[in-house]
Amino acid sequence: MEGKNRYIKKIKMNFEKNIKDVLKKQLNLKEVVLEIPSNIELGDYAFPCFTLSKFLKKSPVQISKELEQKIKLPKGVIKIISIGPYLNFFIDKTIFSKEVITNILRKKEKYGSSCFGKKEKVLVEFSSPNIAKPFGIGHLRSTVIGNSLAKIHSFLGYNVIKVNHIGDWGTQFGKLLYSFEKWGNKRDLRKDPINYLFNLYVKFHNELEKDNLLIEDARIYFKKLEEGNVKLTKLWSLFSSLSLSEFQRVYNLLNIDFDYIQGESFYQSKLDSTIDIIKKTIPTEISEGALIVNLKKKNMPPLLLRKTNGSTTYHTRDMAAALYRLNKFKPKKLLYVVGSEQRLHFNQLFEVLSMMNLSREKFNHVDFGLINFPEGKMSTRKGNIILLEEVLDKSINLALTTINKKNPSLKNKEIIAKKVGIGSIIFADLSNDRIRNISFDWDKILDFEGETAPYIQYTYARARSILKKSKIKILSKNKIDFSLITTKEEYNLIKQISIFEEVLMKIATDLKPHHLAKYLLVLSQSFNEFYHKHKVIDLDNKEIMLARASIVYSVAQIIKNGLNLLGIDVSEEM
Ligand code: ARG
Repeated sequence: MEGKNRYIKKIKMNFEKNIKDVLKKQLNLKEVVLEIPSNIELGDYAFPCFTLSKFLKKSPVQISKELEQKIKLPKGVIKIISIGPYLNFFIDKTIFSKEVITNILRKKEKYGSSCFGKKEKVLVEFSSPNIAKPFGIGHLRSTVIGNSLAKIHSFLGYNVIKVNHIGDWGTQFGKLLYSFEKWGNKRDLRKDPINYLFNLYVKFHNELEKDNLLIEDARIYFKKLEEGNVKLTKLWSLFSSLSLSEFQRVYNLLNIDFDYIQGESFYQSKLDSTIDIIKKTIPTEISEGALIVNLKKKNMPPLLLRKTNGSTTYHTRDMAAALYRLNKFKPKKLLYVVGSEQRLHFNQLFEVLSMMNLSREKFNHVDFGLINFPEGKMSTRKGNIILLEEVLDKSINLALTTINKKNPSLKNKEIIAKKVGIGSIIFADLSNDRIRNISFDWDKILDFEGETAPYIQYTYARARSILKKSKIKILSKNKIDFSLITTKEEYNLIKQISIFEEVLMKIATDLKPHHLAKYLLVLSQSFNEFYHKHKVIDLDNKEIMLARASIVYSVAQIIKNGLNLLGIDVSEEM
């Protein structure tokens, strides 16, 4: 906490440090640990006296009692109370509120941003769908988790590079090219490219069940593609560009962009040299005609660099990508936002990189679970896939139905339904610890009163409408009397507002955006509690009105900043 406070520059009074300094001096200790009481009525910080008991030879309760008498008030603290084995500190609410609120009024949409990342380079690889296949809901997770991590890192002052590692190379293109030559035609392809190609892919697998020699034909086709066969390369390029323009529709809908789209094919020309470097640096073996790195000692299957027929693999391309990225971008951290089912793949990859002395600690597999629909797991092979675009459209339509019911006279309903519909899906994903599997439930994710995006978006719109009705203009130069902030609900809100930056920093450490999603939920709930109990407008005391309006303004600003970091839009009205 103390360390982090350096980055939260505008908080001038470091309450925590002041308390610790006094305790350290009083007890002659090098380090003290403070806790945050579960209930703000019990104070802002608590010092547990248990560990002192042994060498002071007194009970913790007694120690706390004595400290209460002896200790001098740290700067910024107005009251110290002994509660059982704890010594609890109450800070000056007026100073605290002033520092928190004026900081937001000054920084507005930049509130929460900092130089925490010290411009360190972070490469975030995310989304990475496969061409000639529909953009499935599975890639949605990578897309929204990666986008949010990229945004949060930028906001915290990291230098972020966003890379989309499109799946556009590999034996499956042998299958596809073979199928297209055998059964396909360009006219039908252009009508509905991805579905057309996907159906060819499914057809190939159905035919394969009857004739397993087809797999050899597919291998030969991929080999030809790798060797640069002109006709097949042209066809592959066409598949690729048609697919990419379909993916772009999804990215536009989600408002997501990349610095580099470097698919697997990008590394094709670097594969031979990559294999050479690996061979020179670490032991490799020929096993049944294939070139491998043996990982037996690590209890893992070998990493396959070159197949018996000479073709390279998904692993070879990932090795090339890793070397290229280290060399070209010199990143401090690399995040691979890819599902948990590829854990072994990345463990093998990172193990080989570490054998080559290439800073294993830089590489992070940001893994995540599956999204389960009531229908069960999706499989591309069989063709029963749930399309992301369909899911997004459905969500937008459901949001529109709800808005029509709740607020039929609202202007710009379509635009708002889009924000709500897309926001609901993103939030349903990001509000769960990414490691967990998610069960999708339409009623739940779009519930305006649930733990959802619409609930938070609605809270934002409500806060903005309160401000509008109050006719108060909140400006950073306003003279606000913060001593008028006296109720538990107001102070609770201010405390929550104050930890926004810490929540973001935590995400930079464990790479889990759900901390932010959960935080915004609790903030919204606290705001609604506050608003339920206390008036903001139509008060006789204009000074209290101004103080409360400044809290409302701050909550709205944080919701806006926070949702934006998750990739979700707000609306002024709902
Ligand atoms: N295109 C791959 C898939 O859909 C994901 C790529 C993950 N990134 C990587 N560097 N291997 O399974």
